[in-house]
Amino acid sequence: MDPSQTIYATLPMPAEAKAVFERSCKNCHSDETSWPWYSYVAPVSWVIARDVHQARKAMNLSEWGGYSANQKTDKLEEICEQVTNGDMPDRKYTLIHRPARLTAKERDLICQWSEDSREY
Ligand code: HEC
Repeated sequence: MDPSQTIYATLPMPAEAKAVFERSCKNCHSDETSWPWYSYVAPVSWVIARDVHQARKAMNLSEWGGYSANQKTDKLEEICEQVTNGDMPDRKYTLIHRPARLTAKERDLICQWSEDSREY
């Protein structure tokens, strides 16, 4: 992983927004997955490995710098959409990982940040 390519290194982000990504998204959407104990137990391990693989493919916060300007804009729009309609963080995950759930205030914060960031 190249630290200069992370979303944090390539986009200005307030500490509160970064905290949300770190708490609720990075386990699936980055190269810095910390695997909980239950991820080693089948069949949970199969589901989680597949999810993380797909999640990184869809959006990898560790490789943000590699996206084109268009891809970045798309993903920033998607981020706001997905957290607003409650699709992200993934429900399977928040069920077993309750602290990952977002408050209404955090959803607003992420959307505001993603809107502000589309100019970059
Ligand atoms: C348990 C794993 C998991 C967590 C946690 C998670 N996601 Fe996802 N995410 C996925 C998977 C898997 C996909 C791709 C498949 C899909 O769309 O369901 C995805 C897709 C996305 C996409 C669509 C990207 C695109 O361009 O199509 C966005 C945006 C996204 N997630 C944002 C987030 C944000 C923001 C968070 C944190 C608030 C988050 N996700 C937390 C698993 C996760």
